[in-house]
Amino acid sequence: MSAKFQPGRDFAIALDRADPLARFREEFHVPKRTAHGEEEIYFAGNSLGLLPRRTPRYVEEELTKWERLAVKAHFSGEHPWMPYHELLAAPMARLVGASPGEVVTMNSLTANLHLMMASFYRPTQERHRILLEERAFPSDDYALESQARFHGFDPEEALVRVRADDVTRVLERDGAAIALVLLPGVQYYTGEAFDLGAITRLAHARGCVAGFDLAHAAGNLVLRLHDWNVDFAVWCTYKYLNSGPGSVGACFVHERHGNRSDLPRLAGWWGHDKESRFRMEPGFRPIAGAEGWQLSNPPILSLAAIRASLDVFMEAGGMEPLREKSVRLTGYLERLLRERAGDRIEILTPPDPGRRGCQLSLRVKASGLGRNVFEKLDAAGVTCDWREPDVIRVAPVPLYNRYEEVWRFVEILRESL
Ligand SMILES: Cc1ncc(COP(=O)(O)O)c(C=O)c1O
Repeated sequence: MSAKFQPGRDFAIALDRADPLARFREEFHVPKRTAHGEEEIYFAGNSLGLLPRRTPRYVEEELTKWERLAVKAHFSGEHPWMPYHELLAAPMARLVGASPGEVVTMNSLTANLHLMMASFYRPTQERHRILLEERAFPSDDYALESQARFHGFDPEEALVRVRADDVTRVLERDGAAIALVLLPGVQYYTGEAFDLGAITRLAHARGCVAGFDLAHAAGNLVLRLHDWNVDFAVWCTYKYLNSGPGSVGACFVHERHGNRSDLPRLAGWWGHDKESRFRMEPGFRPIAGAEGWQLSNPPILSLAAIRASLDVFMEAGGMEPLREKSVRLTGYLERLLRERAGDRIEILTPPDPGRRGCQLSLRVKASGLGRNVFEKLDAAGVTCDWREPDVIRVAPVPLYNRYEEVWRFVEILRESL
């Protein structure tokens, strides 16, 4: 924060007035808690993003097409369903620093992780290990463990779980035995951001494939997946990308892999050459690029919700301006926490804005009191989340959260403590 920082509410209100993105809050439904319709302080966009006001309209359009055109909507109407997923490619690619041919919106994060590993985890006796982090999200851990087993390796030996600050050392020392590096963009528990460019460089120098789980990074950080030379990445769209519970995930495959005939893959008809798909003949011929990994015809209602959300992101100017506000907003939260509650709250997330996204993970210093404080926050109209054993995660999201909410949150937290 600048030298002019003041701890009072007026300062927060002044920051909101000066915020060029402030109007985007009006694009969202913020849940209301009280009979008087008071909006809650929603700091859980890292878990489920809010509903954009325009989403029902986008979804409704597809329902109307279904009602009026039924099967013919695959080929007619304003946005025919057959190529509907293509509408999402350019904005999604822009958000993660890719070209449209390198991304596809499909399946769910974990399903995509398996599909990517079918192509990019090619273990041999000498090189079959997978480097992951010590506290990987459980779904990733289970997926990696099952992949190792699927290829006939003992996960106890094949999975190398390391602390974030040990990644470089372990890669340098043991890289020759590691087939795949699979790390998060932002760690879900601590909120720490990984340096994906540096990790990819080092992984490649040691002959490993570099893949990432961007569940907490997509829509949160500025990403440059193409320039960083990342091999593949997977993410979900229901967190920072505001597309609704269980909505479809997305996948990045670097352009240099997009047309490789030597890569094995698990194929389905929606990945097959578009011109000849409906000849219904045997003999899979993949579409070039990430689209070639598609399996099935996609759920249009879910894609419509993603399209609505991506349009909001594009109108906000993409990730750069959002990230700029995010650094300020989370920086303001951190400063207030340190000044107003620093004696009772520990912040687990790194203090360097370059090593985190919008989330801060907080621990109540007095042992055993964390859960109680979390419940008091909830009762006072704050939605954030609790992660066992003792962390409260708070994520002020630049698209819809305000500085004044951050200020109120810290006041409520002080009372709850
Ligand atoms: C970091 C991370 N990885 C993976 C997943 C699993 O995602 P999905 O249920 O879409 O497969 C989640 C879900 O919250 C997550 O936060």
